[in-house]
Amino acid sequence: MRQPLIAGNWKMNGTRSGAEALIKGVLEGASLVGRAEVAVCPPFVFLDAAERLLAGSPVRLGAQNVCTEEGGAYTGEVAAAMLAEFGCRYVICGHSERREYYGETDEIVAKKLAVTIAHGMTPILCVGETLQQREQGEMESVIAGQVDAIMDRNGVASFAQLEIAYEPVWAIGTGRTATPEQAQEVHDFIRRRIAGQDPAIAAKVRILYGGSMKAGNARDLLSQADIDGGLIGGASLAADDFLAICQAGDAVAG
Ligand code: PGA
Repeated sequence: MRQPLIAGNWKMNGTRSGAEALIKGVLEGASLVGRAEVAVCPPFVFLDAAERLLAGSPVRLGAQNVCTEEGGAYTGEVAAAMLAEFGCRYVICGHSERREYYGETDEIVAKKLAVTIAHGMTPILCVGETLQQREQGEMESVIAGQVDAIMDRNGVASFAQLEIAYEPVWAIGTGRTATPEQAQEVHDFIRRRIAGQDPAIAAKVRILYGGSMKAGNARDLLSQADIDGGLIGGASLAADDFLAICQAGDAVAG
């Protein structure tokens, strides 16, 4: 049984005081979550405050991005070593918003995964197809391409050190969620793709679902055999909503 991971992706939202209040709210309810693992991924500038507030709690910290390079003259970037120093356990890599708005290619994503792992953190590799790709029957080829790009560059062994998030682009922030069956089909496809190279690693890797997951649909999604958690955007910005999803993760883990 893979332990569910519920991770909040705050994206570029919040103020310092709002972020602190949200962390405190999550901490208040976190004691009710026993079996699911819980993580929050605030913007970089709130990591310091988040690390202090989360100290000693089971709630883990993650970042939303990382630089491909180790350090030096890369204005505006943040290095993996810095994230590790601020207590990050997870780093979201290759989110569709990064791929679409900032031109992140599979090659860049592969480098981000490698540098994250090299610094002792766990990447959350995001993959997903657009609505147009799905409607044109390209879902499997797009997902296979994104997964293979990492297996080819970093080796299948790297999948023992990362999490995957399947995030259909058409479901992100749209309120339009993949049905549990639609999501399960893709999760199963991803796991079989990895199993083609290493069945033991495929059986262990956690594959989270992301895309308008909320309290009302979390349990049905998380009950699917190959859905091992959630990467939560909008619904992670209110502590009660996020905690309700964490509790759904707990319920299915039980
Ligand atoms: P959403 O975002 O839950 O707001 O759809 C998910 C994500 O982009 O990680």
